Amino acid sequence: MEEKKGKQVLWAGRLEKKPAKEAFDFQASIGVDYLMAEEDIAGSKAHVKMLGDQKIIPKETAAVLIDELSQIDDELKCGKLTVDASCEDVHSFIEGVLTERLGEAGRMVHAGRSRNDQVVLDFKLYCKKRAVKIQKEIKNTIAVLLDAGNSHLNTIMPGFTHLQRAQPVTLAHHLTAWACALKRDAERFTDALSRLNECPLGAGALAGSTLPLDRNAVASALGFERPALNSMDAVAARDFVIELASCCAITQINLSRFCEDIVIWASEEFGFINLAEEWSTGSSIMPQKKNPDFAELIRGKSARATGNLTALLTLVKGLPYAYNKDLQEDKEALFDSFETLEKCLFMFSGMIKTAGFNAVAMKAACVGGFLEATDCAEYLVKAGTPFRKAHEISAAIVRACVKDGLKSITEMPLERLKTFSPLFESGVYELLTPQACVKGRSLAGGPAPEETARQIAALREFLTNF
Ligand code: ARG
Repeated sequence: MEEKKGKQVLWAGRLEKKPAKEAFDFQASIGVDYLMAEEDIAGSKAHVKMLGDQKIIPKETAAVLIDELSQIDDELKCGKLTVDASCEDVHSFIEGVLTERLGEAGRMVHAGRSRNDQVVLDFKLYCKKRAVKIQKEIKNTIAVLLDAGNSHLNTIMPGFTHLQRAQPVTLAHHLTAWACALKRDAERFTDALSRLNECPLGAGALAGSTLPLDRNAVASALGFERPALNSMDAVAARDFVIELASCCAITQINLSRFCEDIVIWASEEFGFINLAEEWSTGSSIMPQKKNPDFAELIRGKSARATGNLTALLTLVKGLPYAYNKDLQEDKEALFDSFETLEKCLFMFSGMIKTAGFNAVAMKAACVGGFLEATDCAEYLVKAGTPFRKAHEISAAIVRACVKDGLKSITEMPLERLKTFSPLFESGVYELLTPQACVKGRSLAGGPAPEETARQIAALREFLTNF
């Protein structure tokens, strides 16, 4: 094992002694970057093809190398070849296998390349793959929310501010609010992806190469728009990593907020949601408990996303240009954010898909909190009262109701209402029911069923075109 490792170290020529095992293991990154094997191979294939085309290496050798790289790729995918964990990193592993199999030809692949540009290439390609997968999960989650919302366009529930019941809305309106946030999350990833469009290969360690590399050919072969403009920037910058970690963190924090609502809704006191038994847990001591653990865990896991983003910002703060080994720490943090978010989106949508909503409890919660007080004020505004005065009148009515033990403004007789304002007519009562409060809010963005249906349709159209 030790002997093999010595052979695979790419920088062995400079040092007479082999690194101490502990030192070698400490700086090795194969435990993390093995995940980018596919991307490393794709990058090598494009690089080698260009080396052949540019006559930097014989064309036939390039062809042989490309075939062998494809073979290695296939073997890794089917499990015939496994990553050698004793290698320093994925780059030396692939180059090592190539050299082991092809001898001298394998030793030609690294011409005009450094692991500094190679690792950024692998990372960018890998990020593209993972970001697109996350976008798919976000889209699926939006679809699940919209389906649930569509079945609850008329399910009235209290909307909250300060976690105090505020005004009646519908469950569809609430779920669509979550979907709107997720739409922006998906778009944010697209935006971040648009900045992954420059190929670092050809930047070398930091200052390019004296070899006649064709950077444009490599960039387009690998699906980039162009080569990175500046070789130092190409190997030193990690804002793309921070940006993606930020996209993950924002999405994760959104999920965390939704989950907070779910935890509250699942409480005995609220009883708005019945999480499926398969998506709940019990207590080891309290036989009566059915806990919303999955919502709590998604909320809890958002701490990782925040931590990873903070770690990445801290990692690059104060780093001199260009490459520093510190940057090796970038992958673990972002990979964890990717992994966590993908899993949490999957869990969240599964939880919502299987949940039952308690329309009776939601509607009941709209009674008794004077959620119609704003509508009462707006009734007076429509009759010509200045809003500030209407607000005072409605507040005075609420105070009187509380004093008299009335649960709603609609429980106050008309003659009494008229003592607060002569503008009240008998028609006011039917306008102050929770249903009427919702129906009356048909303004764009509002909770009126036909308006929320329009919002759902707009989001569905977004999903189709995204
Ligand atoms: N594992 C390294 C990383 O992730 C690869 C680049 C190594 N470059 C170097 N100069 N030691 O950053």
